[in-house]
Amino acid sequence: MIDLTEIQPGVDRFEVRKPMPPAQFDALSRDILALKKKLNAVILAHNYQVPEIQDVADFVGDSLGLSQQAAKTDAEVIVFSGVHFMAETAKILNPGKIVVLPDKDAGCSLEQSCPAPKLAKLQATNPNFYTVTYINCSAEVKALSDVICTSGNAVKIVNAAPKDRDLLFVPDENLGAWVMEQTGRPMTLWRGNCYAHVEFTHASIMRIRQEFPDAPVVAHPECTKAVRMLADEICSTEKMIAFCQQVKAKQIIIATEAGMLHRLKKECPDKQFIPAPTENCRCNECHFMKMNTLEKLHDCMANLSPRVELSDDIIRRARLPIERMLEISSRPLENAG
Ligand code: 13P
Ligand code: SF4
Repeated sequence: MIDLTEIQPGVDRFEVRKPMPPAQFDALSRDILALKKKLNAVILAHNYQVPEIQDVADFVGDSLGLSQQAAKTDAEVIVFSGVHFMAETAKILNPGKIVVLPDKDAGCSLEQSCPAPKLAKLQATNPNFYTVTYINCSAEVKALSDVICTSGNAVKIVNAAPKDRDLLFVPDENLGAWVMEQTGRPMTLWRGNCYAHVEFTHASIMRIRQEFPDAPVVAHPECTKAVRMLADEICSTEKMIAFCQQVKAKQIIIATEAGMLHRLKKECPDKQFIPAPTENCRCNECHFMKMNTLEKLHDCMANLSPRVELSDDIIRRARLPIERMLEISSRPLENAG
């Protein structure tokens, strides 16, 4: 994790990443737009991507918004700039299309924490388990699941789960614990976490709150309970935009991956966003998300590689719980349960 404020005097304290030189950005983005037209491609990017990737994308959003976009796109090629499981989800929803990503090694600590054989072993201990799986997992784990959720719809998905089943929530114990608090439904939790979000601590958030006493704290539900209890709002990255747009405060502390600040500054130009610090750094970056660069985005389009490839069997089995999620997510609130 690089703290620019420590190595580059004069850099704004809240400027979390040095922008790409304009000439380089212009040349690359021109080529990317030409390739997009030639391939009939759509570029989907997660809110944590570097600013220059966000700026060339057709759609920037959270995991839910990105899967909704992937489910409805007419494009022939999907260029997915996020982490591997996100591109995999797009492929599961579009088996006949080419799905490329800038770096196939961009993983996720939550995905790594939950290998499919280990999950199958736990499921075998209770035939009444109903497995609610956070989208941050492999296609093989999705294939073992009853329903998928994202941070943006997890409460709605759990509220809609059959009342006579024992809920197993995998793989994020922090999101799972927060959903239990919100729904009152007991769940068995898989012991996985996001290595980046657990870096925020009670003490690091207390310190920044003391510095900015009037700034509300917005935290992602992947944060620990010790951090969530200090937050004024807990929500997915996309819901952070809506919260920051409507809140009166002009300064807001953001406890999530630092890429979020670019999107927030674009959507709310009149507000100041303060990246929540960890014990060791003034902001927090997911090194998996930051493996993607504009150059790699260009190259994956030029070479149509790396591509996501999955077996027909995995696609067929993983698609059902994702479609169930999309269907429940689209229900009006009163029919969700
Ligand atoms: P969102 O769906 O809220 O964007 O979260 C994705 C993620 O990986 C958070 O770490
Ligand atoms: Fe995974 Fe955490 Fe990175 Fe999100 S921020 S992709 S949960 S490691």
